[in-house]
Amino acid sequence: MNRIGIVLCGGVGSRLGQITKAIPKSLVPVYNKPLVDYQLELFDYLGIRDIIIITRPDTYDLFTNYLLKDSNWVERFDNIKILEQKTPGGIAQAYQIVYNHVPEGASTLLGLGDNIFYFTDENEKQKLKQWCDIRTNFITTISVKDPRPYGVVKFVENADVILDVVEKPKDPPSNEIIPGLYFFDYSVFEKAKNLQPSPRGELEITDVQKLYINEGKLAAFRFKSVFWYDCGTIQDLLDANNFMHIMED
Ligand code: G1P
Repeated sequence: MNRIGIVLCGGVGSRLGQITKAIPKSLVPVYNKPLVDYQLELFDYLGIRDIIIITRPDTYDLFTNYLLKDSNWVERFDNIKILEQKTPGGIAQAYQIVYNHVPEGASTLLGLGDNIFYFTDENEKQKLKQWCDIRTNFITTISVKDPRPYGVVKFVENADVILDVVEKPKDPPSNEIIPGLYFFDYSVFEKAKNLQPSPRGELEITDVQKLYINEGKLAAFRFKSVFWYDCGTIQDLLDANNFMHIMED
């Protein structure tokens, strides 16, 4: 299967205050490396060989220097392309940006360049790789205390079947949220082409998921023992640093 990895590194990171005025969020260090490295390590493990990075125009040079010159990422992947997102338009806009750079029929794994997934169970990690090798059209889910700031899954009772996904619900249908890892087939490009902006002005990734649900095609890989950090706030960043220090040291 021809698979392309897409890593979104265009986030402003406004809740990180002065830190993201100095460096883009995905290059902020967590323990001993920039955040984007954690996502790229996962993509490498999952066997993705071609990577497209999406950045803002004002941070394009920083990512180019780091990923193509000052690190060993070019040796670890077959191909790394860096594209610009001219104006912020939501996660699903990424499919419109990369469309001309993806070979016809390829599937995609999209991840967020400021996320860390830390596996405490090697079997779970291997199972994700197996899914990635043979399946498309699945999201991952993880149970959190307060699901309201995220995309949340409504499951059929006592089953892994997805009934619906809801973006930032006031009254969440479950505690299972969708962290930023999305595995879709080539039809995602047709789906993303016709999306309309949500009330917050973004092309929502949950709207893409709904289209797959309508076709009866969306599956969920439910993480059980993964630690997930999206490093959105100073406290998250501090927690992620402390956690990675303890786990890696
Ligand atoms: C986005 C997605 C949401 C997902 C979250 C994961 O939210 O819209 O469905 O659960 O990423 O981090 P945002 O970061 O745009 O609020």
